[in-house]
Amino acid sequence: MVKKSNNTIKISALRKNVGEKVFLNGWVYNKRSVGKVWFVIIRDGTGYTQGVVVKENVSDKVFSLEQAITIESSISVCGIVKKDSRSIGGFELEITNIEIIQIADDYPISKKDHGTAFLMDNRHLWIRSKKQNAILKIRSELIKAIRYYFDSNGFVNIDTPIFTSNSCEGTTTLFKTDYFGQDAYLSQSGQLYNEANVMSFGKVYCFGPTFRAEKSKTRRHLTEFWMVEPEIAFCDLNENMEWAEGLIYEMVKWVLKFCQDQLIILNRDTKPLEMIKPPFPRISYDEAISIINKEEEKIKWGDDFSSGNETIITNFFNSPVIVHRFPSSIKAFYMKKDPKNKRLALGMDILAPEGYGEIIGGGEREEDYDELRKQLLNNKLSEDDFQWYLDLRKYGSIPHSGFGLGLERAISWICGLSHLRESIPFPRMIYRLEP
Ligand code: 4AD
Ligand code: MG
Repeated sequence: MVKKSNNTIKISALRKNVGEKVFLNGWVYNKRSVGKVWFVIIRDGTGYTQGVVVKENVSDKVFSLEQAITIESSISVCGIVKKDSRSIGGFELEITNIEIIQIADDYPISKKDHGTAFLMDNRHLWIRSKKQNAILKIRSELIKAIRYYFDSNGFVNIDTPIFTSNSCEGTTTLFKTDYFGQDAYLSQSGQLYNEANVMSFGKVYCFGPTFRAEKSKTRRHLTEFWMVEPEIAFCDLNENMEWAEGLIYEMVKWVLKFCQDQLIILNRDTKPLEMIKPPFPRISYDEAISIINKEEEKIKWGDDFSSGNETIITNFFNSPVIVHRFPSSIKAFYMKKDPKNKRLALGMDILAPEGYGEIIGGGEREEDYDELRKQLLNNKLSEDDFQWYLDLRKYGSIPHSGFGLGLERAISWICGLSHLRESIPFPRMIYRLEP
């Protein structure tokens, strides 16, 4: 039985209880002994603190627990809070009692270096580590920042389905599943439904998991990732860019304000983040091509960017950069064509600096019924399947735009991670379905 009293507190509240006798529940992060004194580092999800066990202060039974207690055992402790600037977190606990909740036998993750495959196999335990805890805390704060940005700017959060009957981002990355005898696909994007919702609410966003059967093994691709997608009525490509850069600015500001402890744990150099401020540079696809072709890597007009190409572009700027007006042949069927050059789509991608590459994709949507129908057929999509989507162009069609931000891509950049797999609690990739 876990005992809780009025004096049961969290480690984050130690500072408010100096001199008081308190109870803490947590896990053993580490321990060490120097004869008549031993130390136990406890973590409880809100922080880390050191408990000092002195022979004179505790019963013999408690003092002898040093032998029994192992890393990751769960314990309840009682002690007096002392301020100590040398101690982890700036406070420590002079222990008066320890009760064991459960002894952990041979915890498989030690402080020594393990290979990534081993850590991924033990992801259910690895998430307890200091670094993983810091990343996932930042993830949680970024979700708050995203919701704050849209909620405080008049957007309505309307969720979109996960079982869908249509593709949105091409048919090659669809996960197909049986839906009572009919084919259903896991959503690649909530956008098409957002476009229906925006006609009711004016400004909407959806935020949830999206799925792509990405067979490539890269550090930028998951098969299940979270995307936030706003959609805005009466909005053109330029205004869409402003909403997108505003979102990124809010996210970076939020993390710098609320996640300093976590950024320190991650050893993240925050200077590049502190410099970020809208407006971000805007370059056309054509300009991006000439930047890439100045380097070793060559690309011809009409090709999509490789991740290497994106890295070259981002190294050119020390801010996120917006690339717009891509060849329509490499963009999705729903993108509106540039009236000034019909070979171009009014789409935009935002590339994160420091080599991270695309974190946002979006643009202006085709609002004309006949044009959209033509683009559907050009993309070999069935008109019947998209009848409901075409309807939106029949009843009060309007110019509208939106975008999608990949949450894990943004986290990886902001935390300075080398691979997307640590930015989500339980990553799903081509060779990873467990744990
Ligand atoms: O560029 P994408 O494919 O755009 C769309 O899905 C649009 N329908 C969004 C919209 O306009 N509402 O994907 C958007 C973002 C990318 O910029 C990237 O950050 C992320 O989603 N993304 C992935 N993240 C992780 N793993 C993958 N396999 C991803 N594919 C896309
Ligand atoms: Mg994209």
